Amino acid sequence: MQKSAAETIYRLKTEKNAIILAHNYQPPEIQDIADLCGDSLELSIQASKTEAEIIVFCGVQFMAESASILCPDKTVLLPNKSAGCPMADMITPQQLSARLEEHPDMPVVTYVNSSAAVKAMSTICCTSANSIKVVNSLSSGEILMVPDRNLARYTAAKTDKTIHPWDGYCPYHDRLTTEEVSQRRQEYPDALFMAHPECRREVLDMADAVASTSGMLKYAKTSDAQTFIVGTEIGLLYPLQKASPEKRFVAASENMVCTDMKKIGLDDVATSLEQMTGEVKVPENIREPAMRAVQKMIEL
Ligand code: 13P
Ligand code: SF4
Repeated sequence: MQKSAAETIYRLKTEKNAIILAHNYQPPEIQDIADLCGDSLELSIQASKTEAEIIVFCGVQFMAESASILCPDKTVLLPNKSAGCPMADMITPQQLSARLEEHPDMPVVTYVNSSAAVKAMSTICCTSANSIKVVNSLSSGEILMVPDRNLARYTAAKTDKTIHPWDGYCPYHDRLTTEEVSQRRQEYPDALFMAHPECRREVLDMADAVASTSGMLKYAKTSDAQTFIVGTEIGLLYPLQKASPEKRFVAASENMVCTDMKKIGLDDVATSLEQMTGEVKVPENIREPAMRAVQKMIEL
């Protein structure tokens, strides 16, 4: 069944001039059939450059929306439309509007883990790989950063800006505790600890490296260390091990499993390509202002 789904995908990909992009947290079988795997920033850039007519986005809703924002003339397919991001759902355009009435002149830096409608109300977007650079590119000393409070606090600590964080968070990263990290450190005393900026501040304070998912892949590859404690969604263990087979990767916590990132299977990809189901299309009145915020980030 799995083999025939993969064969269908390869055949349809060529016939329909499609490209398959997969986030680093996707299940191994999806990463293995993808044309490109990466973090949110890399996938956005790749989507903006591709000459394929169809982009099959194996990730969650906001990632497919970003591809639609950047490529309005292409068909973007999300093979399981119910794959969302609980953090992105923690801010609505109405809530942001209400906050902006209190601070009408404050620039808004929006993490890409957000809806297209929220991006459309933003000054500029950022990802976990470039938030410091994005914030430093703004002249204002005060910035509203949405929706991730942990990324906002991490970024604030690395810049001279006053950052007002929205109170959103990733339920899977926010649940990692210092006790769990200490326990792993005891079990693997020679290991380096890598953490995603969506983790809490006290957890980030314990990290040897704070990085996006692709940042962690690069860090582990180039480091002389042999063992790494991985403080992010456990899907990243697969590409880490694949890129550095001689090294050892241990999950900081077995509880960091994003159920939305596990919703797409090979059959979903094959069906989506075959029947052109799961299309994600951002309406033009939202796409245009959202595009300005995403494009500003990409051009930095
Ligand atoms: P990256 O951009 O680091 O891949 O992270 C995306 C994400 O959803 C983290 O939870
Ligand atoms: Fe959203 Fe967290 Fe899942 Fe990333 S891991 S997609 S931030 S819920």
